Amino acid sequence: MRELIVKVSFIPIGKTMKNKLVFTIFGSTGDLTYRKLMPALYNLMAGSNLDDNLEIRCIGRKALSQEDYIQLIQPWIEKGSRFPFKETIFLELTKHIQYIQMDLTKIEDYHLLKNVDQNSINIYYLAVAPEFFESIADHLESSGLLHKNLDYVILEKPFGLDFKHAIKVHDKLSTIFHQDHILHIDHYIGKEMIQNILAIRFANRLFETIWNKDTIEQIQITAAETIGIENRGSYYEQAGALQDMVQNHLLQLVSYVIMDQPKLMNHEHIQSKQIEAIQRLSIDECVFGQYTAKDDLKAYREEDHVSHDSVTETYIALQLHAKEGALKDVPIFVRSGKRMNQRATYISVHFKKAVNHLYPQDKLIDELLLIKIQPDEGIYFRFNAKKPGSSQEITPIMMNFCQNCIYENRINTPEAYERILNSAFHQDTSLFTPFEMVKLSWDFGSKVAKLKKNQGLDFYESQSDGPISADTLLNQHGYVWISADISDEAYQ
Ligand SMILES: NC(=O)c1ccc[n+]([C@@H]2O[C@H](COP(=O)([O-])OP(=O)(O)OC[C@H]3O[C@@H](n4cnc5c(N)ncnc54)[C@H](OP(=O)(O)O)[C@@H]3O)[C@@H](O)[C@H]2O)c1
Repeated sequence: MRELIVKVSFIPIGKTMKNKLVFTIFGSTGDLTYRKLMPALYNLMAGSNLDDNLEIRCIGRKALSQEDYIQLIQPWIEKGSRFPFKETIFLELTKHIQYIQMDLTKIEDYHLLKNVDQNSINIYYLAVAPEFFESIADHLESSGLLHKNLDYVILEKPFGLDFKHAIKVHDKLSTIFHQDHILHIDHYIGKEMIQNILAIRFANRLFETIWNKDTIEQIQITAAETIGIENRGSYYEQAGALQDMVQNHLLQLVSYVIMDQPKLMNHEHIQSKQIEAIQRLSIDECVFGQYTAKDDLKAYREEDHVSHDSVTETYIALQLHAKEGALKDVPIFVRSGKRMNQRATYISVHFKKAVNHLYPQDKLIDELLLIKIQPDEGIYFRFNAKKPGSSQEITPIMMNFCQNCIYENRINTPEAYERILNSAFHQDTSLFTPFEMVKLSWDFGSKVAKLKKNQGLDFYESQSDGPISADTLLNQHGYVWISADISDEAYQ
């Protein structure tokens, strides 16, 4: 195996920190902790980015010994971390971890979280359902565990059960924690290629100058998964594709694509432009779908903890437009679905055809910029050129840059949760979503949910490209959905 080249540019501020850092995970026997948080912590350890002074408290209801818990997390780390698994690194990590059995709803259990060091900075990570957020905060406060100016709380989406509840939770938490210490996670912001969208748009004169309604015909954003809801039926019945993907992750993507140029490259300026962008959005049309069975794949309604007549959507397609700005009225098509025929998240920007008498339009290929976010990370650009030979025939040129095909890039690129935890450990809040944006996203989600009431649900077969009505949504404008593997096309 090749030697690892670790060049992750984290600043190990933790190493110089005076206060001890205590990271407490509520919900540490849950899917999120196993699949995302533990591999992220291992990656930070492997990259020498965990402070010696860090204590990780893992709270669960289950009667597990310390050894049981360590045994439980090991296979998830082996499977989920970007660095190859090494016993020595894992052992180092486990020295920071303490499993604490308690019921988070019982105030009498909170004494188990008392800090020996009164000056510790606590980061409480609530990897539990939103109905627990207020009571956890209450119990932490009533048990005298909090230092309002030192401690942080991290919330996982959904940040409430609905718009009203999200505001109630925020208002409550604001009385207990410092406003700026309530951190909302949208792990999409931590993804490498999403951080790259602004660089592509604003570091290139080419794209900076053509990112407008005169040049761009339409924009598509796809987040497709091949898996179904796995064993998360109870959660998904409540959230659906709208709360799971669209109103948070995809809305973030839309805002990065349509926002105006920020004055400075810092999170305040970027977030204020994102907020403006979301405020400009208008919803034109929606399609809601639900997957049906195929071969041995179950229909959504047959999944565990799902009602037999459930109307929860596992697929959404939206047509949006910005009411103002450089991309005013350019159609933006957004779709997200489970059990589709591809696993890929990508943005495609479709340019208008050249208008001149030299080359007939029907001979020109649509110029296209594809930003690949996951699992492939990279950029694909397609444009017209002259076919080699004596004729003036036009042929498409496809330039395909695969960022994570390069070993050094892959191994040196932190995963989203790794990036996010690292910034939280350094009390850097720039990768978290401000509450203003959380409110806007709930507002957007409520508008889409209202449309669903009038519209109903279309069904699509598992492993397909989604409901036919979603194709019609584009076809009526003369467009089709672009598949991620378009970038696999060879030169023609
Ligand atoms: N999974 C993901 O990929 C993902 C992604 C983004 C956001 N989220 C959000 O993160 C939250 C957690 O998701 P998850 O998938 O990890 O859920 P999960 O697998 O159902 O885990 C829930 C966790 O909460 C714990 N818990 C519940 N009631 C408790 C109590 N009274 N006392 C102590 N612990 C209790 C559970 O402990 P027991 O094991 O004892 O039941 C378990 O550790 C949800 O709000 C979800 O929407 C999840």
